[in-house]
Amino acid sequence: MPLSRRTTLTQFLIEERRRFPDASGDFNALILDVALACKAIARSVAFGELGGVLGGHAAAEGGAVNVQGETQQKLDVLSNEVFIRMNEWGGHLAGMASEEMAAPRQIPAQYPRGKYLLVFDPLDGSSNIDVNVSVGSVFSVLRAPHDAIEQGRDVSEADFLQPGSQQVAAGYALYGPTTMLILTVGNGVNGFTLDPNLGEFMLTHPGLRVPAETQEFAINASNSRFWETPVKRYVDECLAGKTGPRGKDFNMRWIASMVAEAHRILMRGGVFMYPRDTKDPGKPGRLRLLYEANPIAMVMEQAGGRASTGREPMLGVVPTALHQRIGLVFGSRSEVERIERYHAEPQPCKDPANPLFAERSLFRAA
Ligand code: AHG
Ligand code: MN
Ligand code: MN
Repeated sequence: MPLSRRTTLTQFLIEERRRFPDASGDFNALILDVALACKAIARSVAFGELGGVLGGHAAAEGGAVNVQGETQQKLDVLSNEVFIRMNEWGGHLAGMASEEMAAPRQIPAQYPRGKYLLVFDPLDGSSNIDVNVSVGSVFSVLRAPHDAIEQGRDVSEADFLQPGSQQVAAGYALYGPTTMLILTVGNGVNGFTLDPNLGEFMLTHPGLRVPAETQEFAINASNSRFWETPVKRYVDECLAGKTGPRGKDFNMRWIASMVAEAHRILMRGGVFMYPRDTKDPGKPGRLRLLYEANPIAMVMEQAGGRASTGREPMLGVVPTALHQRIGLVFGSRSEVERIERYHAEPQPCKDPANPLFAERSLFRAA
């Protein structure tokens, strides 16, 4: 095999670090540990039924339902354990939080504590595991509060409640036909493909940019009766195609793995919506702010795309809870801005029989 001239993830990180001569190297070590966790999960996913990892997780083995009330798959639990095991020992972290753990995870006493917080969705799209459709892992790196670093104290939920704009790094691994790692350290977005022979992530997609324009959207249309008016309007206009106000035909996709949708959008443009809806008043959206929306938002924005709740930029939202859910719209900038415009416009009346509350009237419903 000819010697590869490609940059490995390790080389990429070292070269990036040379731009900051004072950097300790902790950050690079942390990213490499995250990458190792992703490689380990990729192997488990690849073995599928042969590895005995498919199917639901038995309650007797540590719980079948996570803190969100969702049924855990074996691979959800396994991937969570892999993330913990690969990242707890290195001395880079003050604590971790995950979709699969109700409370923050403390670094065990036998290991040193560091200055970063790692937040992750160990396996995204887990409803797709058993049908052999792409899944992934999503991660976000935050700085721990100063007092936590200085005292080496246990971390609390409040330590993690930082807006996405504070993320030091974010990304995802996609376990698809090839395994890829997409990473931003706040300086653009780079894509790495796992070389299965070497077990190394190689830089294959430097400087990724989300195309600004698109004719493709992704939304779970089975929720359409619960959508709010701006979302209904946007989707109706897409569906109207050439003969509608957009004057062009749109294509629709729904994989039900957010990472896979994010990746498609990163590669060829598009818009993804899992908006706030009226399905369950207790849940303002389906996806979680800290370990799904925020890391994907940072990747999108760093690639020239946009991410929003529909009402405000995602990265500005101040979290109120570790497992907070939120409406999420991301992708090609011009489409996300259009959806935000529709949300900002006066909403139509709640009572269509009453002309006083008609769209654009003085008495429009809030
Ligand atoms: P997770 O598997 O981590 O719970 O996340 C699944 C998410 C996301 O990946 C996807 O976009 C969405 O759930 C799909 O939801 P629907 O089943 O409602 O389409
Ligand atoms: Mn998820
Ligand atoms: Mn998950």
